[in-house]
Amino acid sequence: MNQKQINANQPTRRGFLDWIVAACSTVTAALLAIPAVMYLWPAARGGTAENVEVPEAGSMPPGQSRMVQVGGKAVIVVRDASGFRAYSAACTHLGCLVKWDAAHRQFLCPCHAGVFDDKGAVVSGPAPAPLPPYKTKEIGGKVYVSAS
Ligand code: FES
Repeated sequence: MNQKQINANQPTRRGFLDWIVAACSTVTAALLAIPAVMYLWPAARGGTAENVEVPEAGSMPPGQSRMVQVGGKAVIVVRDASGFRAYSAACTHLGCLVKWDAAHRQFLCPCHAGVFDDKGAVVSGPAPAPLPPYKTKEIGGKVYVSAS
């Protein structure tokens, strides 16, 4: 075995630094990927299966609304004579939060004058789709909202 063959099997400073750079790059990529995955798949953190209680729903008179957050998303809950209904509060145009107009029984978007009827369907304005519905259920006098 000559001196050149012996040196080829020895760990080198450059090899060690290459290994450190590769390890740091891998860890950094993994740390950056975690928030992206959590954003793209909220169900992975249990967000969409969340049941959220509507605060003081029993004291809401028919025709009134409340805003709650379900899985980090704004949801508007409306009470009418037949019970509670809930829809995403994010306008399907550019995401502004809609408000409930009790007098006209419509959801109004303040950004570009989008109007949705009391079932979330588009009445007028630039919104391309209806407001997505959420599920509501009443248990023991309390009202819960969930996405699924
Ligand atoms: S964001 Fe609602 S109409 Fe444009």
